[in-house]
Amino acid sequence: MASFPPLKNNLILRAARGEKVERPPMWVMRQAGRYLPEYHKVRAGHDFFEMCRTPEIASTITLQPIERYEDLDAAIIFSDILVIPQAMGMVVEMVEKKGPHFPEPLETPEDLAKLKRLGEGCDVKKELGYVFEALTLTRQKLAGRVPLLGFIGAPWTLMAYMIEGGGSKTFTKAKSWLFKYPEDSQKLLQDITDVAVEFLAQQVVAGAQMVQVFDSWAGELSPVEFAEFSLPYLRQISKRVPERLAELGQEQVPMTVFAKGAWYALDALCDSGYNVVGLDWTHDPAEARKIANGRVTLQGNMDPNVLYGGKEAIDKAVKRIVEGFGGGKQGYIVNLGHGVTPGVKPEDLGFFLRKNHEYGSA
Ligand code: CP3
Repeated sequence: MASFPPLKNNLILRAARGEKVERPPMWVMRQAGRYLPEYHKVRAGHDFFEMCRTPEIASTITLQPIERYEDLDAAIIFSDILVIPQAMGMVVEMVEKKGPHFPEPLETPEDLAKLKRLGEGCDVKKELGYVFEALTLTRQKLAGRVPLLGFIGAPWTLMAYMIEGGGSKTFTKAKSWLFKYPEDSQKLLQDITDVAVEFLAQQVVAGAQMVQVFDSWAGELSPVEFAEFSLPYLRQISKRVPERLAELGQEQVPMTVFAKGAWYALDALCDSGYNVVGLDWTHDPAEARKIANGRVTLQGNMDPNVLYGGKEAIDKAVKRIVEGFGGGKQGYIVNLGHGVTPGVKPEDLGFFLRKNHEYGSA
């Protein structure tokens, strides 16, 4: 096992475990990305997945927001949720101005035979070794400044991409699988989960100090389908990753679930085995806190579009949200309600962080 420099700021780890803290820790989804000019400098001349697969580049991009903003309390490894479908044998390309594209998406249950499963053609350490190398290198380069976060896409969100072949407005193809082929859908979700559990556990072995599961398309499901096709796999991940870490002789790390749009499932998510539940902007902080009732730490949840509203709007929203989360000194991690978008001015994100620091320390 690798040895790493001692951690100087463990605020997010303490907050995730529900301890009282001096101020809420903060990080931002997609903090390493296209709103940063320094990201574009590196991006020019490289394919997106080539950058993910080159540990030196991935670690450089991961560190960019940490170097720019002294208020950040965590780094998140530069990678993508779609590396799991790639490890299972699917081709995924990142198309300029369009997003991810699968030239050969899954069309019918017969296509499941083409997928590589854990232990049956999918060797996680081999297929995703570049992510582990990037984590280890980044952890060294961080030199203990802040904890390093690892992540995966949730089984339902990955299944949706694998069937739609990219983003979608209606998710007709992926959702019709749930109704037309419910058993094959469960099988696919289980195969993804098996890879996801091993991948997340190995991320911790490689240096991730906290991990997040992104169920970005949870909100496309009705509460009934979420309970049947997403939640059971989210629960499996929160149960099996700690078991696998124990088996590997590895220390446990806090785990976060972010099921975007699944406001109806907040109560169930607070009992799903995670330390932290991420909230999108459709939640009222005080209401969410009432529902969570101390069971988990909450993370979120300013609408990223407030960042386009200027300093006064940001100031007002931050103040209201910190108050809504009871001042933020226990059970709260500052974040946006979804990823920061490419048009945001870096200075405005810096202002958001500074204001959170100020109101959260008061
Ligand atoms: O948060 C971070 O800074 C860490 C890196 C990270 C990326 N993607 C880098 C990225 C993380 C955690 C992700 C997760 C991810 N990827 C999700 C879940 C989070 C969410 O937003 O809901 C999803 C759905 C994806 C799939 C994906 N990757 C899409 C839809 C796109 C293109 C459109 C978009 O919103 O940007 C990507 C590309 C991507 N992933 C970029 C980055 C920095 C931009 C790529 C580019 O430079 O062209």
